Amino acid sequence: MAPALLILLGAAAILQADGTPDDGCHSGPLNLCDLFFFFFPRSVSLLPPVNFTIKVTGLAQVLLSWKPNPEQERKGVQLGYHLRVHTPQDDDFELKHTGRRYEAALHRGFSASVRTILWERRPSPASRWVSAELRAPPGSPGTSAVNLTCVTNTAAGGHPESRPYRVSLRCAWRAGEEAPSDTQYFLYYRYGSRTEACREYGQDALRRNVACWFPATSIDGKGQDALAVGVRGSSLRAAIRPYDRLFALHEIDQVNPPGNVTAEMEGTRLSVRWEKPVSAFPGHCWDYEVKIYGRRRGYVQIENTTANKFNTTVSDVSRYCVVVRAAVSSTCRRQGLWSAWSQPVGTGQDEQKPWTEWLLIPLTASLCAAFVCSLSRRTGHMCTKLFPPVPGPKSDIGDLVATVNYEKGGSGETESEVLSYVAVDEEPEVLEDLVF
Ligand SMILES: *[C@@H]1O[C@H](CO)[C@@H](O)[C@H](O)[C@H]1NC(C)=O
Ligand SMILES: *[C@@H]1O[C@H](CO)[C@@H](O)[C@H](O)[C@H]1NC(C)=O
Ligand SMILES: *[C@@H]1O[C@H](CO)[C@@H](O)[C@H](O)[C@H]1NC(C)=O
Ligand SMILES: *[C@@H]1O[C@H](CO)[C@@H](O)[C@H](O)[C@H]1NC(C)=O
Ligand SMILES: *[C@@H]1O[C@H](CO)[C@@H](O)[C@H](O)[C@H]1NC(C)=O
Repeated sequence: MAPALLILLGAAAILQADGTPDDGCHSGPLNLCDLFFFFFPRSVSLLPPVNFTIKVTGLAQVLLSWKPNPEQERKGVQLGYHLRVHTPQDDDFELKHTGRRYEAALHRGFSASVRTILWERRPSPASRWVSAELRAPPGSPGTSAVNLTCVTNTAAGGHPESRPYRVSLRCAWRAGEEAPSDTQYFLYYRYGSRTEACREYGQDALRRNVACWFPATSIDGKGQDALAVGVRGSSLRAAIRPYDRLFALHEIDQVNPPGNVTAEMEGTRLSVRWEKPVSAFPGHCWDYEVKIYGRRRGYVQIENTTANKFNTTVSDVSRYCVVVRAAVSSTCRRQGLWSAWSQPVGTGQDEQKPWTEWLLIPLTASLCAAFVCSLSRRTGHMCTKLFPPVPGPKSDIGDLVATVNYEKGGSGETESEVLSYVAVDEEPEVLEDLVF
C-alpha cells in the first residue's frame, strides 16, 4: 500500500509542477486526482462562517461581512470564502477576505449566502451555506416611481484648475399607477462615496416631481463606476415604495458633437477638420463618423476615422455638405452612444463665379442644410434622422419643465401620462431655422 501511495503522490506532484494540474487530472484513463484525494481525504472539515451580515452603506450599496467560524481548525490550511449574491440571478465570488462591498438596487430586497472553502484547492470542498437577507423596504404596490431614465452630459467649466469639465445629470420618471395625488417624489444620486439630493425638479400636472436636473455633479467625466440613482416618495395616504437603479455611465452619457467643423475644397480635394467634443476624454479616445452629401442627387459618402481630420477626392466640383459625429472609442471606455451630428457645414460651389466667391462661402454653409433637407424630403423623412438636433446646454429649470408633456388618453377613463424626454426628437425645425 505504501509504495502505491508514494507513486500516486509523486504523480500528483509532477502534475502540479507541470503547471497544468487540471489537464493532467482529467485527461488520463485513470483519474489520478480522485485517487489522490481518496487516499488523502478532506481531512479538514469546513465549518460555515458566522455572524454574516448585510449592512446598507449607501444608496444601492451594501457591505457584506462575516467572521470565520471560531471552531474552524486552521492549522496548515488557508481558508477562503465563496460568496454568492442573489440579485436575483446569482453572482459568485471567491475571496480571502471576510467582507465585500456590493452595489445593487435594493428596492426589491437583497440576499446573499457565503460558505467556507479551501483557498489552495479549487474547486474545493466547502462548508454548508449561511445566508442573510435584507427585506424589501415597505410601501404600497404600484406607488414607486417607474420608467426612471437618466442622461449625463459634459460641459466646459467647473473649476478651471482642478476640474476643467463638469458633468450634468438629467433624470425623468413617471409616478406609479397607484401613487396618490399628494405623492411627492425625491431623487438622489450616488457616485463613489458622494450622495446628493436633487434641488431642481420638474413636475407633472398633479405637481408631483417627475424630472430632475443637476447642473453639476460629482460624476467623473471619464469615470467607470456605476451611477446609483434612487427615487423616494412620501404621501399622507400611502407608504411610497422607493425605487433604485444603477446606470453604467457609458450607456447614459450623451456625448457632445465634435466642435468647429470646417470643410474646404481645393479643386476636387475636399478636406474636413474638426475638434474633439467638449469632454474630459482626451483626443486619442474618439471614433468619428463623417458624412458628406453632394449636390449631385443621392451622393453620400460615409467614413469612419479616429483622426480629427479627413481628406477625400470628390468626382465633381459641386456643393458639398458635411456633418460629423463622435463616440468615445473602446480604447478608453466601453462602447457607448454616438453623439448627435454636428451642425452641417457647406463647401464648394456650383459654377466658377470668382467675383462672388467670397460671398458664396458663408452662403453655402446656410444653404447646405436647406439643400440636404430638400434632397431628403423627396426620399422620405431623412432630414430629422440625419440631423437630430444638437442638444444645447440647458441651464435652467424652465427648460426642463417644458420638456415634460402630458397627453390625455383619448379612449379610456383614466388619463395616461406620456413623458417625452428632451433627448433626440425635439425641435425638428432646427434645420429650417438654419436656412434663414
Ligand atoms: C458574533 O456575534 C455575537 C453577537 O453579536 C458576538 O458575541 C460574537 O463574538 C460574534 N462572533 C465572532 C466570531 O465575532
Ligand atoms: C414603463 O414601465 C412599465 C412598468 O415598469 C413598463 O411596462 C413600460 O414598458 C415602461 N414604459 C416605457 C416607455 O419604458
Ligand atoms: C472652436 O474654436 C474656437 C476659436 O478657435 C475656440 O475658442 C473653441 O473652444 C473651439 N470649440 C471647440 C468645441 O473646440
Ligand atoms: C462606421 O462605423 C459604424 C458604427 O460603428 C458602422 O456601422 C459603419 O458600418 C462604419 N462604416 C464604415 C464605412 O466603415
Ligand atoms: C489634407 O489636405 C490638406 C490640404 O488640403 C493637407 O495640408 C493635409 O496634410 C491633408 N491631410 C491628410 C491627412 O492627408
